[in-house]
Amino acid sequence: MSKAVRFDHFGGVDVLNVVEVEKPSPSPGRVLVRVVRAGTNPGEILIRKGQLEQKYPTTFPCGQGTDFAGIVAELGNGVTSPAVGTAVMGWSNERSAQAEFVSVPAEQVIVKPESLSWEVAGALFIVASTAKAAVAAVAPQRGETILVSGAAGSVGSIVTQLVLRTGAKVVGAAGASRHDWLRSLGAIPVGYDDDLQASLSSVAPDGFDTVIDTVGHGYVDLAIKLGVAPNRINTIIDFEAAARHHAHADGSAKAESGAVLAEIAELVADGELQVPIAAVYDLKDVRQAYTQLEQGHTGGKVVLRVAAP
Ligand SMILES: NC(=O)c1ccc[n+]([C@@H]2O[C@H](COP(=O)([O-])OP(=O)(O)OC[C@H]3O[C@@H](n4cnc5c(N)ncnc54)[C@H](OP(=O)(O)O)[C@@H]3O)[C@@H](O)[C@H]2O)c1
Repeated sequence: MSKAVRFDHFGGVDVLNVVEVEKPSPSPGRVLVRVVRAGTNPGEILIRKGQLEQKYPTTFPCGQGTDFAGIVAELGNGVTSPAVGTAVMGWSNERSAQAEFVSVPAEQVIVKPESLSWEVAGALFIVASTAKAAVAAVAPQRGETILVSGAAGSVGSIVTQLVLRTGAKVVGAAGASRHDWLRSLGAIPVGYDDDLQASLSSVAPDGFDTVIDTVGHGYVDLAIKLGVAPNRINTIIDFEAAARHHAHADGSAKAESGAVLAEIAELVADGELQVPIAAVYDLKDVRQAYTQLEQGHTGGKVVLRVAAP
């Protein structure tokens, strides 16, 4: 037996429980990983509340969690690497990462760079693939000016840094407490509580070439109002506005690959990209972790500590 997060009906954090389940065993082509850290993501809140049923239907009892890092414990038939005992990071598409053991297809793990912290490794896949997809959708060019909403959020902070690496200018809408950090990266912060349109025209009088929205709250409509072409707008959350304006809505699924995860992991390990960690909770405190995540102003990833490495 082993422990895993489960819920058996939709609801608030109190439906989340850590229960004893059958320890998974790896079928052919899969690896079994002993999980050290697992990530949390806001989409899991929507799933748990039954608000994503049309897109991602649920069967009960339901597990939870996509991102994880851990140690390879067993290999299924046909899998020869990474060897048992290797430190890896990866993702589950089966809502099963928040557990002592997770079984995934072998191509869904990569070797963890040694200098990458367990916290970042365990929380990287969704934010890395989503940020890569969002940036690729609008292809920022050197010299262009890009508005990023939620620029200091978990996805937004990676978007901001990836865009800056292209040589484009980033104007980032974020809460005031994150402005110094955004400046330290080389972005121009603006507060979303102020008169946003006035702030935007004062820092970017010639307007914006592209907009990457990680928040919703009307940023796609604002982008259109600012004269940005729909094919240079990407939102990861406002699918209705994207459909209405024929803008992009590329998210994690569009960039899901070990290569993308490895690229971002290496950048973080080499100190070229920062992934702030806001809080780490023991697996048994999963309800507290999601209570903090749901507040929406975490300043970084909320991570679950499942076991020692
Ligand atoms: N499509 C996909 O594949 C995909 C993948 C991952 C996430 N998502 C979605 O993307 C959203 C962000 O995810 P995340 O993990 O980055 O969340 P997060 O870490 O909680 O970040 C959210 C950010 O939004 C900022 N914010 C809130 N209201 C704002 C406003 N009016 N203007 C500008 N910024 C505002 C907050 O800024 P302050 O803290 O500075 O106040 C916070 O930094 C969630 O809705 C999530 O469900 C979609």
